[in-house]
Amino acid sequence: MPQLLHVDSSADLHSSTSRELTARFAAEWSSSGAEYSVVRRDLHTSPLPHIPTNELHWAPRLRTPGRPVPVEADALQRELIEELIGADVVVIGAPMYNWSIPSTLKAGIDYIHVPGITTTFDAVTEPLAGKPVIVVTSRGDQYGPGTPDELIDHQIPPLQQVLGVALGMDVTFVRAELTLASRVPAMASWVDTSQSNKATAQHEVVDLARQFAKHFG
Ligand SMILES: Cc1cc2nc3c(=O)[nH]c(=O)nc-3n(C[C@H](O)[C@H](O)[C@H](O)COP(=O)(O)O)c2cc1C
Repeated sequence: MPQLLHVDSSADLHSSTSRELTARFAAEWSSSGAEYSVVRRDLHTSPLPHIPTNELHWAPRLRTPGRPVPVEADALQRELIEELIGADVVVIGAPMYNWSIPSTLKAGIDYIHVPGITTTFDAVTEPLAGKPVIVVTSRGDQYGPGTPDELIDHQIPPLQQVLGVALGMDVTFVRAELTLASRVPAMASWVDTSQSNKATAQHEVVDLARQFAKHFG
């Protein structure tokens, strides 16, 4: 049974671009047939606690003896990693917050990037290698190649690093930029570009969902 893990992290429950796009992806996936299941994780409405100790970053066999890890944190980490491994495809809504990602999403990443379990350390461990993940990025301004703020994008490069490089996942980014154009008067001249960016992103998520549903069907 093909399974999608649908993750959101936007704090905007009314007009979020990333939520709209991940929901479109999930709807298209579900419309492929009754067997196409969706597991939902909303990191904003059900936030994870921060990792309670640095020891949780390591596989149990690599943790420092005598430094206990709370059992509930250990269990939550296992649950989150199993959830990720159990998914055929993952879609993540990742807005830009302060040139980076929401702390709720970062808290989740801190649980699942674990040397010795999800990344190779003392033995080859790469259970997520090749798993498709579609990261829907939304941001108020623009940060693409050639733009003045290109080098202060701390949203897409770290996500590529952890999901793509460290975990070995097959990452596709969908970019919705200039989302603040209709809200910020000084950005009024970007409204058309913003709308056309969004329309492109809407098509992209639908195409990607169809493509992956067909692949795993
Ligand atoms: C806490 C916060 C911080 C933000 N920081 C930035 C920023 O650094 N750069 C930027 O371009 N937009 C920033 N924005 C705007 C969001 O990236 C933009 O509204 C985006 O569409 C949010 O994603 P969403 O529509 O899925 O909620 C910020 C918004 C919030 C709420």
